Order: sequence, then structure tokens, then C-alpha cells
Amino acid sequence: MPIGTYYFTKGFLWGTATAAQQVEGRNFNNTWSAWEQEDGRILEGGKSGLACDWWGGRWREDFDRAQAASQNAHRLSIEWSRIQPAPDRWDEDALDHYREMLIGLRERKMTPMVTLHHFSEPLWLAEMGGWENEAVIELFTAFVRKSVGALMPYCRLWVPINEPNVFAFNAYVDGVFPPGKQDVKAAMQVLQHMIQAHARAYHVIHELQAEARVGTAINYRGFQPAGVLPADRWAAKAYHRLFNDSFPRALHDGVFDLVFKKIALSDAAGTQDFLGLNYYTTDQVRFNPLAANALFTRRFFPEGALLSETGMIAHTPGGMIDAVKWGHRFGVPMIITENGVDDGEDNLRPQYILEHLHALWRVINNNYPVEGYFHWTLVDNFEWERGWTQHFGLWGLDQETQARLRRPSAALYADICRTNGISSSVVEQHAPQVMQRLFP
Ligand code: BGC
Repeated sequence: MPIGTYYFTKGFLWGTATAAQQVEGRNFNNTWSAWEQEDGRILEGGKSGLACDWWGGRWREDFDRAQAASQNAHRLSIEWSRIQPAPDRWDEDALDHYREMLIGLRERKMTPMVTLHHFSEPLWLAEMGGWENEAVIELFTAFVRKSVGALMPYCRLWVPINEPNVFAFNAYVDGVFPPGKQDVKAAMQVLQHMIQAHARAYHVIHELQAEARVGTAINYRGFQPAGVLPADRWAAKAYHRLFNDSFPRALHDGVFDLVFKKIALSDAAGTQDFLGLNYYTTDQVRFNPLAANALFTRRFFPEGALLSETGMIAHTPGGMIDAVKWGHRFGVPMIITENGVDDGEDNLRPQYILEHLHALWRVINNNYPVEGYFHWTLVDNFEWERGWTQHFGLWGLDQETQARLRRPSAALYADICRTNGISSSVVEQHAPQVMQRLFP
């Protein structure tokens, strides 16, 4: 049996990622808190409620856990509606709270990365039309200026907007996120405003903090043609261009490419210092002339692929390599800002983590510049329209008692973070079924 370790580069960031609405609890003034009150919006009527009680201070014990598990970084988001509860009011106490959290990370020797918009925004903004209203660009810029101005002594890695592609699709095409629209034109408008808001945020952050590094976190989804038909190939490519490529491409060369038309947004060119990649899974794509809202495609998982507990994610680690190779075109270093799987029983997670990280190690060894990896997520949390039905945490959560339940993957990931590598012994111990593949 071969013995060895696949080491990552020195200084590699190892952490987990979280988002305000999903962990803080007691959010009452944003689009999601209102959405959760509407019948039928959240699976099983779930509500974020207390969530992981980070607003009540339990971030301390969770950061302790992450530190004890050898994580040297953490990605969190701040909640716009707390910092700016009304258009003409800033809440300094909320900023103090976030300041304390960032100091808490630094005291634990963990590098903070802060996301400024992660799917939720103030109700007052929604009442003005949210991201469909061009005014959002100025408003977001003001929020960024205020927040970064307050928090910059403790952080230099900034993600203005998390997964603009998922947000636009879920909120304006699929309608499962607020405001629940099914309007492709509105989705494109929202994406355009997000590109412009990102670009403004980029410049404001650099104006405030010379050493800042700013990147978007894009959800990269693999799209492979299901067959050899040219129509399937066209459909997979078109989906990729629109969903994966259009946002970071606009930040790179200032052109928003909507497949059927291109919009020049020259101010957005060159507004990324790193590219954040959220990679979860890969689809097979078949052309379907009847599915206009799904960009004329039918998508499904590769036959025989292992599926996550709720079937939302197929175990397709090769997509990690595709994601990084694609991301390299934008000419900036990359950070894996999310990757994970819903798995309350921790059946698939050990294998999922090991094979995705092995794929990442391979591509880094081919000299693709990747600086870190943030697992989604630290503790089970409120999973948006899927409520509490999915379990993405290295730790589980007992919502009644707020007790954390350590899953075996927590120890597996801790070993990887501690050694800065994947050892044959950790594979042997946690996922012997992949030993042959990883250490042939
Ligand atoms: C989002 C997270 C979410 C995760 C798992 C990502 O698309 O950024 O907020 O919880 O997927 O569903």
C-alpha cells in the first residue's frame, strides 16, 4: 500500500464559508426574513429563526471549533439590512458586532474574507425595486464605502457579491428566492446592475485600502453535452457562457455577453484581483426546444454518479479541474470560496472532500494559481428555500438546544488543514474506497 502525502502550497488558506442570513439568526429587516413568513416559500415551512445564533454570540464557540480544527481562514458575510436599517440610517452597533467578529478571527490566527452581499438585502431596498432599479448601484456603493471603511483594519479580502449568477437565476427566473419573479429580462437587468455595482465597489474598496484584494464568488457549474449531437453541444456551451462565464468575463474585459447580444460595460474591465469559485457539481445537458426558460435545455446528472442525501448534488470531482482551468482565463489567482455537499449522515462527504481536494491538488500541481479552499460549511445552517432540510456542516446542529454535533468529516478536514495536505493515512481511515484511485 503506497504511503505519502499530497502537499499544498505554503500559505494555502484553509477554511469554511458562511453567510449572514444562514447563521446569524434574528434577522427581521431583510428580504429573506419577509420571504420566510410567506406560505409555501420554504420547504417544510422552515424559518431562519435563531439559525446558529451567531448574532447571540455563538460565533465565538464556532470560531473556536474552526481554530481547534486547524483552519487558518474563514469567509463570512455581513448583513446590509443590519448596517443600514433605513436608507438614511447607519447602525454603528451592527458594525461593532462585525468588527468584534473579525477581531475574533484574527485573535484565532484565521484570515478573514468578507462578503458584502450574500443573497439578502434590506426591505427598504426591495420596496424600491431591489436590483432591478438602477439606483441600487449608488446605494450598494454607499453601503460598501461605509462597511469597508469600518472593517478594513481587520480584513483585506473582499467579495462584493456572492454568486450573482445564482441570485439572478433563482430570484428572477426560477422564482424560488425573493422577489420570486419569472422574468428573464429582469434577470439580465439585475445581472447588469450587479456587474456595475461590483465595479463601483472594486474602485471604492481600493480607494479606501491600497492592499485590498477584491473578487467575486461565482458559482461554477459544470455543463457537459449529454450526447454527440451538435444541438446538445451548443446548448451546453450556451448555458456555460451565460451562467458561468458572463459575469467574470464582464469584470475582465468590460463586455456583458448575453449569447444573443453583447452590452459594453467598459467601467467594469479589470475589476478583479482574484476569482472566487464556488464549485459543487456538474450537469449533463440536452437540447430541448420547448424549454425557453431553461435556455432550451434539459439538465440531469451523469448516470451512475453518487448523489447527495437530497439528490441536489452529484459527486463529480473532475469538475473542480474544469472550473480552475476555465477560471485561469481571467488572468487572476483563484480561491475556492465554496465547495461542499448536503449529507447529514456523513456518508458521502469524506469521499467528496477527498476527491475534490485531490482534483484541486492536481490542477495546482499543473501550476494553476489557487490560493485557498473554503468548505461549505462549518455548522448546519438555514439553506434558503430548502430551509433546514439540508445538512452541509462539518458539524451538525440541534436547533432546539443549539448543541453542535461533530461529524467524522470535521476530523478529516482538520487533518488536511493541519498537514496542509492529503495523506494516505487520512484517506485509508476516512474513505478507504477511494484509496486505489488517490494512491494507485
Ligand atoms: C450558496 C450558499 C448555499 C450553498 C449550498 C451556494 O450556492 O452560496 O449560500 O448555502 O450554495 O446550498
